Amino acid sequence: MSDSGESADPRDTTASGRPTLPLRPPCERLSGTKSSICSRSYFVVVMVFFHVYIINVIALLFYVHYSSGQEDATQSRDAPSGGHPRPESRRPPSKPEFHRDVSLTRIEGIRVGHVQKVSLVPGKVHEMRTLSMKPLLFEIPGFLSDDECRVVMQLAQLKGLMESQLMVQDGQEELAKELNLSPEEIFNLLDINQDGQLQLHEILTHSRVRDGIWLTPENLREIYAGLKADKDDNGLLSLEEFRHLSNDAFQRFLLQRGVKRSQLVRNSRHTWLYQGKGAHQVLQDIKERVTRLTRLPSTLVDLSEPLQVVRYDEGGHYHAHHDSGPVYPETACTHTRLAANTSTPFETSCRYITVLFYLNSVDGGGETAFPVADNRTYDEVSLIQNDVDLLDTRRNCDKSNLRVKPSKGTAVFWYNYLSDGTGWVGEQDEYALHGGCVVTHGTKWVANKWINIDPDYQRQARYQQLVSQLPEDEDDEGLTLNTEVQSPSIHQEL
Ligand code: OGA
Ligand code: CA
Ligand code: FE2
Repeated sequence: MSDSGESADPRDTTASGRPTLPLRPPCERLSGTKSSICSRSYFVVVMVFFHVYIINVIALLFYVHYSSGQEDATQSRDAPSGGHPRPESRRPPSKPEFHRDVSLTRIEGIRVGHVQKVSLVPGKVHEMRTLSMKPLLFEIPGFLSDDECRVVMQLAQLKGLMESQLMVQDGQEELAKELNLSPEEIFNLLDINQDGQLQLHEILTHSRVRDGIWLTPENLREIYAGLKADKDDNGLLSLEEFRHLSNDAFQRFLLQRGVKRSQLVRNSRHTWLYQGKGAHQVLQDIKERVTRLTRLPSTLVDLSEPLQVVRYDEGGHYHAHHDSGPVYPETACTHTRLAANTSTPFETSCRYITVLFYLNSVDGGGETAFPVADNRTYDEVSLIQNDVDLLDTRRNCDKSNLRVKPSKGTAVFWYNYLSDGTGWVGEQDEYALHGGCVVTHGTKWVANKWINIDPDYQRQARYQQLVSQLPEDEDDEGLTLNTEVQSPSIHQEL
């Protein structure tokens, strides 16, 4: 075994059996052997590899150059890159179909740990480090100054923060009654994998999504015991067992028992700060910096949600979630609902990018966890196992693939969607799952800047046309639609 492969030259081992150290230069030592690394054939092979490598590098450079041509355009006020026809040369088509003449820049991550220098404010260079490739996630220390962090926290306090999640539990029974669903129909709705049994995770997901109540597998077993629901005690509910429960048995049980704030999906307070004209200079500066950071058309950033400032007190948390929803044909984005053709049955947040700012350094806990960052695969069901629930940021942050420790002034940002391959927003990136770990000591302040883009370009374009009623001004920059000019000063009321 030991003779094969591992050691290149059997003479590396002396007759005495002791390994020798390569004291002489390898060429001299090996020159007699035909397979020596100094032989001509070896040289030829190396040269061929070398040339192929060089050709690959050149091809890659060309690819990077052409695919990120948009980046060069940021200096020229977000104008579309040279490869695209100029917008002036196009007139609106008679049919209200928008032609896309802009590509969204996606920052290259290269590899985890890669650091790139970015110019965000005059006279200063920031370092941007790649934290993961799935999702594409970066960290920029010192993005905000201490003063800026202080001002944002003070402005938020001045405006007043509200509970991020209210404890409402009613209204659902009415809906069920109105629909007049049979127990079989409800069972079928809940049975996600359609195996005729209700697994713990099916009930847990349901109560988390519908009621915002974060039940643990133990809670659920306790509820089953209280309601005598799981007669055979196998942790599953059969249709037979389910039939014996009344429609609102779970709700009534929880109501009786009471739900603490720590049992909600999210336990924090937040407020929104507008960043448009007239806003505090610090807020406008931050928006400007985010535009430079993301290299997206400024109109898109201008039309995005205001800055969300969040405060977690000791014990606060935010269980793992997606900032954006998956987009199906029948789903509309909240921010473009004005432009949705019909009254769509489903509405979701379409946040192409999340920029998360840490406004203070936290005394204990409060990391941002990415449970499946850079996982080889994504399997929704295996996230919630009987013993370990990776979505639970009160218990299992230590099992997350990646945790970012809050550090005052640092910004992290990631893409919640993949690219569609043509320069627009594609599928939701499932790996962008994240949450705020429980704060064990002190208070945690963060701010979110979400950049809203509809994966449906036509809807995004219609929306922008709708909000751009003002005439062209000198600020005409950003996403140029071949219709009326955009007004960057209009903000979406949320
Ligand atoms: C959020 C969020 C993470 C954190 O506010 O959407 O995911 O670390 N926050 O607070
Ligand atoms: Ca099932
Ligand atoms: Fe989030």
